[in-house]
Amino acid sequence: MESSARLRRTPLNPSPRLPATCSKAASIAAALVPVIVVIVALNAIPAQSQLKQRLRTHHATNAPVFYQDVLPILQEHCQICHRANGIAPVSLETYEQTKLLADAIRAAVENRSMPPWFADPGVGHFSNDPSLSPEQIATLVTWAKTGAAAGDFRHAPPARRWTSSWTIAKPDFILTMNPVALPPRGDVEYTYEILPTRFREDRWIRASELLPGLPANVHHAVVYVRPPDSRWLRGAPIGKPFTASSLASEEDRRAAHWTDSDVLLVYAPGSSPDDWPANMAKLIPGGSDLIFQMHYTASGKPGK
Ligand code: HEC
Repeated sequence: MESSARLRRTPLNPSPRLPATCSKAASIAAALVPVIVVIVALNAIPAQSQLKQRLRTHHATNAPVFYQDVLPILQEHCQICHRANGIAPVSLETYEQTKLLADAIRAAVENRSMPPWFADPGVGHFSNDPSLSPEQIATLVTWAKTGAAAGDFRHAPPARRWTSSWTIAKPDFILTMNPVALPPRGDVEYTYEILPTRFREDRWIRASELLPGLPANVHHAVVYVRPPDSRWLRGAPIGKPFTASSLASEEDRRAAHWTDSDVLLVYAPGSSPDDWPANMAKLIPGGSDLIFQMHYTASGKPGK
C-alpha cells in the first residue's frame, strides 16, 4: 500500500483577511423587500382560488429537474463519495442512477444523515461544513416528490472530473511511502513511515493532500511534521515502514503513540484535502521529516 502526501508551497501572504461584505449586501436586500411588497399590494389582489391556481402552475412549471437543479448539488456535496470508485456504495453521477434512489435521497437529506457531518450545530460554524442549505434540501425533496424529472441534459453542468489522482492543483512536491504488505484479515497495527523533506529552508505549505493507493484499506491517516530539533522517534528507521512494536527501544515503542509534533494533514475516507485560503499556510521548518501514521484495515484480501 502506497500513500503520498503532496504539498503546494507559496510564501505566506501576511495581508490581513478582508472584512466580510456579505452582511451589508444582505441588509440592503432586506431593506428592499418591503418596497416590493408595496408594489404587489398596489396591484389587484387575485381571488383566493385564482391565487391557488397560479401557485399550482408556478409549482408545476418550476419543479426541480435533474440536470439543471439536482446534479449541481450532487456534484458539490455528494459525488466526493458517491461516484465510481468512491467510498460510498452507490454512485450519484447519472440521471439513471440517481432516479432509482430518489426516495432514499429525499429521506437522507430530510433527516440530514447525508452528507455525513457530525459537528454539533450549536458549536459555531465550520468553514468546511458540507451540509446542504435549507434551499438545497428543498430542491432535492421536491424533485423526489414531483416524479424525479430529468429535464434537459443540455442544461447539465460539465461532469465533474473525479480522478483517483490529486484533487488539489498540481503539486510542487510529492513524497511517496514505500509499499506495505497488508494481511487479508485481522487488526493491523498502526504503520509508520518517516520520510525526510530535505527542505534546506523553512517552507510555507498552501495545500496538502494524501492519496491512498488502496482506499478500501485506509481507515485514516495522520501526517506529522517532525522538525529537526524534535526527539520523536529518533530511534526509528527512515524511509521504511515500521510498527511501534517493531522498535528496539522501549522509549520509542511508547513514544510512537504520543507526540507534540504539528499535524500537516489528517485523512479519512471522504474527507476533503486541506486547501487553505490565500492568506493562510502551514510552516514546515527546514530539515523537517514528515511522519506518516497509517491506520490500515484488512479488507478480506491481501493488499500492497
Ligand atoms: C463523506 C462521504 C459521503 C458523502 C459526502 C455523501 N454520502 Fe451518502 N453515503 C455514504 C456512505 C458511506 C453510505 C453508505 C452508508 C451505510 O451503508 O451505512 C451512504 C449512503 C447513502 C444513501 C443510501 C443508499 C442506499 O443504498 O439506500 C443515500 C440515499 C445517500 N447516501 C445520499 C447522499 C446524498 C444525496 C449526498 C449529498 C447530498 C451524500 N449521500 C453525500 C457516504 C457519503
